[in-house]
Amino acid sequence: MAAQLLRTEHLTKRFKGLTANEDVDFEIFAGEIRCVIGPNGAGKTTFLSMISGHLQPTSGHVWFRGEDITKMPLVERARLGIARKFQTPSVFNRLTVYENIELAVLGTSRPKHRRHARVREVLELVRLSEQTHQLTSMLSHGQRQWLEVGLLIGNDADLMLLDEPTAGMTAEETHSTGELVRSLAQELSLSAIIIEHDINFIRDLEAPITVLHMGRVVAHGNYDEISRNEMVRDSYLGH
Ligand SMILES: Nc1ncnc2c1ncn2[C@@H]1O[C@H](COP(=O)(O)OP(=O)(O)O)[C@@H](O)[C@H]1O
Ligand SMILES: [Mg+2]
Repeated sequence: MAAQLLRTEHLTKRFKGLTANEDVDFEIFAGEIRCVIGPNGAGKTTFLSMISGHLQPTSGHVWFRGEDITKMPLVERARLGIARKFQTPSVFNRLTVYENIELAVLGTSRPKHRRHARVREVLELVRLSEQTHQLTSMLSHGQRQWLEVGLLIGNDADLMLLDEPTAGMTAEETHSTGELVRSLAQELSLSAIIIEHDINFIRDLEAPITVLHMGRVVAHGNYDEISRNEMVRDSYLGH
């Protein structure tokens, strides 16, 4: 059985009077994909922020490979392999695809003579080999998102935190993104926590789903199980 990678325990975040996350227990194993869904304002982004270190919980704990990282600064968490992709692009438009990945690889301790091969490898993993020498500004929206995933891999991420990765994508790009994340989990044992609105994308991932509502976990299970939940049906399935 795969090792537990990350666990949260009673994770709670209050902003003044508002409780954004309440008592959230969650776990993910190495090589696993987990989805988090819930209506706007449910606390999904806040939850990711407490894992990445962008926000400090009011109470509760975050464990990574058995170590309590609740108070660990963001930069150190990144060094442990926790990598977050934001919706706002962080790629450099005036650099080529290759150069963007190269910058990520430069940030790792990989020896100089191994870097070129690593950049090629990452580009292959995110299916951008054909675009290697293209300017990043020339990429399609979907390709740019995959390049961002490539930056996380280039940084030697073990756990990717993806907040609505398919927003703005075409149906075809959305489908490819699902395949990409699945192949990364299978081939590299890379784990991902994915927040998504697109319920078809979620269903096709065939990953365990946690449903947040008003900051609390209200359902957990596979697609068939959570689609029996009334809140999920109202919000996502239209009946
Ligand atoms: N920095 C903040 N300060 C105050 N309230 C916040 C902050 N971030 C989020 N919230 C509030 O916490 C709740 C959960 O927000 P969020 O985690 O962004 O939800 P989701 O990502 O599920 O849409 C919302 O009511 C939001 O307004
Ligand atoms: Mg959000």
